[in-house]
Amino acid sequence: MGVFLGVALAGSVVLIIILIIKQLFWRGRLKSIANKHVVVTGGSSGIGKCVALLAAKQGAHVTIIARDVQKLESAKSEILQACRNRDIQKVEYLSLDIGKSYENVEKSLNDLEKTMGPIYMLVNCAGTAICGKIEDTTTENLKYMIDINFLGTYYCIKAVVPRMKSTKEGIIVLTSSQAALLGVFGYSAYSSTKFALRGLAESIAMELNPHNVSVTLCLPPDTDTPGFAIEELSKPLETKLISAAAGLVNPEDVADQLIKDALSGKFFSTVGMEGFILTTLCAGMSPFSSLSELILQSLLMGLLRLVSACYLISFQRIILNCMKTRDKNKKSE
Ligand SMILES: *[C@@H]1O[C@H](CO)[C@@H](O)[C@H](O)[C@H]1NC(C)=O
Repeated sequence: MGVFLGVALAGSVVLIIILIIKQLFWRGRLKSIANKHVVVTGGSSGIGKCVALLAAKQGAHVTIIARDVQKLESAKSEILQACRNRDIQKVEYLSLDIGKSYENVEKSLNDLEKTMGPIYMLVNCAGTAICGKIEDTTTENLKYMIDINFLGTYYCIKAVVPRMKSTKEGIIVLTSSQAALLGVFGYSAYSSTKFALRGLAESIAMELNPHNVSVTLCLPPDTDTPGFAIEELSKPLETKLISAAAGLVNPEDVADQLIKDALSGKFFSTVGMEGFILTTLCAGMSPFSSLSELILQSLLMGLLRLVSACYLISFQRIILNCMKTRDKNKKSE
C-alpha cells in the first residue's frame, strides 16, 4: 500500500513538472499577422507601443489610438522604422478619446477600416491607474478610470465584433492587470475596473469562440512604463510595500508574451512566476486553452491556495506595521 502511494505521489510530481515545462515553453502553431490590420489602443506609449512595434516587425498594418497627437506622431515614426517591409505596410494613428462616446468610437473605427482594411486584431492597452484609499479617491478619478479602463475597452470591442463575426476570424486582447485577480490595499477603484475586464473577457470568449474569434486577457504585473511612473505618485506606502514583492517588469517582455499568447489563442497571458501562480490559482470558471493546462490547474490549485494564505498574512502584517508607525509618529509630534 505504502509503495503504491509513493509511486502515485512521485508520478504526480513528475507529471506536474512535465506539464509546467510544456505550459511555459511549448505552443502550437501561431497565427500570422503579416499583412493584417492590427489596432492598438494606448499605442503611443508603454505596453501598447511595444505591441505596435512588434506587430510592425511581424509585417502587420498598424493603427495606434491615443489622445495626444504629439505622442502619436512620434510613436508612428518609430513604428514605421520597425516595419519589416516599409513599401507594403501601412502605419496610421487615430487621436480619439475611446471612453467618451460609443457612437464616436464606432464611426472612427468604421472610417479607419475604409482606409486601412478590416481589423483582424484589436489590442486594448489604453488604461490608467490612480491609487488611494477609498475615502481618498475622488469620484472624478473613479469615473476617469471607469471611462478609460472599462468603457474604452468595451466600446472598441463592441465596434469591431460584428465585422469579425461576419468574416469568421479575429483576435481580441484585453489588457487587464494582476490586480484583476486579487484586490489590493489602495486599488479600490483601479482593481474594480480591471476585475470588470475579466468579466467582459470571459463573456465575449464564450460568445465569440464559436465564430473563430479568440479572446486573450493580459494580466501584467507592475510594468516599467510612463503610466506606472505617474501611478507611483499617488501610491500609498502600503500599496508600494505589498506590490514590491512582485518586482517590476519591462513593457517589451509583457508585449512579447501578449502577442505570442494571443496568436496561439491562449485565454490568460501573463509573465513571471507570480503571474503563473495567480492565473493557476484563480482559474475558477475561466476558459482553458488546452487539456494540459486544465490538468495542471486542477493539480496545483489546492496547494497554491495555501501559498496564497501566506501572502495574505504577510500583506496584513505590512498594513498593521504601517498603522503602528503612523500612530507612533503622531504621538511623538
Ligand atoms: C479561423 O481564423 C484563422 C485566422 O485567424 C483562419 O486562418 C482560419 O481559416 C479560420 N477558420 C475558419 C473555420 O474560418
